[in-house]
Amino acid sequence: MNALSDRINNLSTSQTLAMAALARELKAQGKDIISLSLGEPDFNTPDFIKEAAKKAIDENYSTYSPVDGYVDLKEAICKKFKRDNDLDYKPANIVVSTGAKQSLYNIAQVMLNEGDEVILPAPYWVSYFEIIKLSGGTPIEVPTSVESDFKITPEQLEKAITPKTKMMWFSSPCNPSGSVYNKEELTALCKVLEKHPNIYIVSDEIYEHINFSGTFCSIGSIPGMLERTITVNGVAKAFAMTGWRIGYIGAPEFIAKACTKIQGQVTSGANSIAQRATITAVEADPKVLQHMVDAFHKRRDLVVGLIREIPGLKINVPEGAFYVFPDVSEFFGKTLKGTKIENATDFSMYLLAEANVATVTGEAFGNPNCIRFSYATSDDLLKEALRRIKEALS
Ligand SMILES: Cc1ncc(COP(=O)(O)O)c(C=O)c1O
Repeated sequence: MNALSDRINNLSTSQTLAMAALARELKAQGKDIISLSLGEPDFNTPDFIKEAAKKAIDENYSTYSPVDGYVDLKEAICKKFKRDNDLDYKPANIVVSTGAKQSLYNIAQVMLNEGDEVILPAPYWVSYFEIIKLSGGTPIEVPTSVESDFKITPEQLEKAITPKTKMMWFSSPCNPSGSVYNKEELTALCKVLEKHPNIYIVSDEIYEHINFSGTFCSIGSIPGMLERTITVNGVAKAFAMTGWRIGYIGAPEFIAKACTKIQGQVTSGANSIAQRATITAVEADPKVLQHMVDAFHKRRDLVVGLIREIPGLKINVPEGAFYVFPDVSEFFGKTLKGTKIENATDFSMYLLAEANVATVTGEAFGNPNCIRFSYATSDDLLKEALRRIKEALS
C-alpha cells in the first residue's frame, strides 16, 4: 500500500516556492543568482506595527484567541472594508486566518463538493488551482493574453458557465499579471453573473493597496453582489508582513460560520500576537504605505521600460501588484546557446542557467506563453537582472 495518500500524490508543489528554493540553493553553492521569483515585498514591516506586536507580548496575549479572530480585530476589519472598499460587513461576516492562503483553503473546503466547477480567469495565482483540486473542485480555466491586458470579457465568462459552475475565483490586482479590473469591467462581468444567481465569487484583494491606477473597486460593492461574494484580503503584501501570516475574509454569515467551524478543528485560530498587530495595521490610514507603493510604481516603470528594449518579449503595462508577465512565446522553437526552447518553463530555466536570474514559468499560473518576474527588489538588482537577460537573449 502507498504510504502517502492519493490526495497528496495528486497535488503539485508550489512552483513559485520551488523556484525560490532552487535559487537559494544555487546561491548557497556560490552562484550569483538574482531572484525575481518570489512574491514578497523587500521592505521591513513598518515600526508602528512592530511596536503593537511588542506591546501585545508584554500584555500577555499568549492564549488561544477566539477561533475566528479577536472581536476588536474583526471590528477594525469591518471599518477597513467600509473605508477602503465600500463594503458593509459586520463582525459575524469576518474570519481571520493564518494568511490569505488559509482563508482561500477554508473557502474551498467549506463550499466545494466533488466535481463542482470553479471558473479561473487565467493567469491565476498558482495556489488557486491546487487548493480547488485538493477540495474536490474542478478548475475551469478561461485564457487571456497580453493583448487583452490579461482580463476576461463578459462573453468569455458567459461561455465558461455550466450547470456545474459553483464559483469564480480571481485576484485584482492580479498575481501574476498585475492587471486591475476597473469598476466598468467588473460591472460588465456582474451583468453576466446576474443571470446566474447561484454562482459565488471569491475576490482576492490582497494587492489592493499596491495599485497605480488611482482607483480600486471591490466586486462586492457592486449592487447585488455582496451576498454572493467572499472578499479575501490580508496584511502580507501591502504591510510587508508576509511572515506574520494573517489573512481574513468578509463573507455571508453562513460561509463565515463554516470557515470558523473548519478552523476550529484544524488551527484553533491565527497567531494571537500577529492578530493584535494587525489591528494597528488595518486601522492605519493607507497613506502610511505610500512610500512603498511609490517605490513599486517606479520599479514597474523601470522594468517595463527595460523589458521593452529586449527584442522578442511582449509586455503590457500592469497597473498593480509587483509583477510583470511578459509573453516569451516568440522564442519557442528557437535554440539559444545550444538550448532548445520549447515552452515557458524551458525559457525560465534558460534564464536561470545563462543569466543567473530566477523567474517563474507562466505554466504555473495557467498561461504557457509567459513568465513572471517579481520586481519587489532594488532598482540596481532589477537593472542588473534585465541587463543579463538581454545579453542571454541576444
Ligand atoms: C493573489 C494572492 N493571494 C493570496 C496570497 C497569500 O497571501 P498570504 O501570505 O496572506 O497567505 C498571495 C501570496 O503570494 C497572493 O499572491
